[in-house]
Amino acid sequence: MTKNAYKNIRDAYHNKDWTKIQTLSQIDAIHHPKEPNLEILNIILTALGKKVTRSSALGKKVTTLYSKTTLSDLDVGRTLGHGIFGIVLLVRHKSTREVMALKVMSKKTIKKHKLEDQIRKEIAIHSSLEHPNIITYYTTFEDEDKIFILLEYAPLGDLYKLLGQKIKLDEGTLSKYIIQVVEALQYLHKRNVVHRDIKPENVLLFLDGTVKLTDFGFAIEIKPGEKITKQVGTLDYLSPEIVEGRSYDHTTDIWSLGVMIYELATGKAPFEDIISRQKTYRNISQVNYTLPTHLSLELQDLIEKILVKEPTKRLSLEGILAHKWIIG
Ligand SMILES: Nc1ncnc2c1ncn2[C@@H]1O[C@H](COP(=O)(O)OP(=O)(O)O)[C@@H](O)[C@H]1O
Ligand SMILES: [Mg+2]
Repeated sequence: MTKNAYKNIRDAYHNKDWTKIQTLSQIDAIHHPKEPNLEILNIILTALGKKVTRSSALGKKVTTLYSKTTLSDLDVGRTLGHGIFGIVLLVRHKSTREVMALKVMSKKTIKKHKLEDQIRKEIAIHSSLEHPNIITYYTTFEDEDKIFILLEYAPLGDLYKLLGQKIKLDEGTLSKYIIQVVEALQYLHKRNVVHRDIKPENVLLFLDGTVKLTDFGFAIEIKPGEKITKQVGTLDYLSPEIVEGRSYDHTTDIWSLGVMIYELATGKAPFEDIISRQKTYRNISQVNYTLPTHLSLELQDLIEKILVKEPTKRLSLEGILAHKWIIG
């Protein structure tokens, strides 16, 4: 995008001439590294997609509206993110103009890594969820060699990117994000769903400060009281019970949440050893980490009460919401 074209879009925005702002590449322009402007992005998205965020009460209706969508109904824009097995693209529905995210996974890769069951679970679980802090699922479709999952779009991307941009998260803002993740987890755990991949990459941010959990690729539904044994998740966030091959339940998500809180507050994961995976495993198993003194005493106390090796002694989600770092 040239400087001139960018200026034209900016002028159109100032003159509220929405007819000049119609394509996805123009939305991409807002991500122009030299002149990013979130305010403009918000207004353009509002004009194009009508809504940037929506209340959960609308979830069902929207899901029905888009349940027959296929690739030919969408304009495809830039890449929003990469996962281990696929990519996520910015798309726009041709007729409603709603901006959305499309998760794309290659069938060949799925087959090669024997992920069929996992993808089936991801779709079954995500499509059954409806919560203001969980990314809305619209539909799934496929072509000859790919599987697509159509999702609500989060304009500010994931919290890991925020860390990468060295945007300093003050503890007040962080606690507002954490409350929302805890509420999403309460909703999941009440439904006996364990997410198993809580980390900053899977928490997405909206312009009004709402955060929503996504990526149910490792999620599993268990029976009440049931324990699971399969070792699943992302290394730095794995709980001691998973690392040690013991059976575990939903409390593993609370451990990962504790790791994520530490990382978002300090910029570094607590147990990470960049050279040796084995050392990271050992650090997790021995709960070997240090708390930087620049963290408030309340936050240090919260992290210490979450990163407890014995799952039953770990602070509960209700306990987190009642902790003095959260309630102030
Ligand atoms: N709905 C969305 N809106 C904006 N960005 C998204 C959305 N979904 C995913 N992303 C981006 O794509 C990345 C990978 O998506 P994710 O669903 O976590 O895939 P994977 O299962 O491969 O990790 C995320 O970390 C995020 O940066
Ligand atoms: Mg992910």
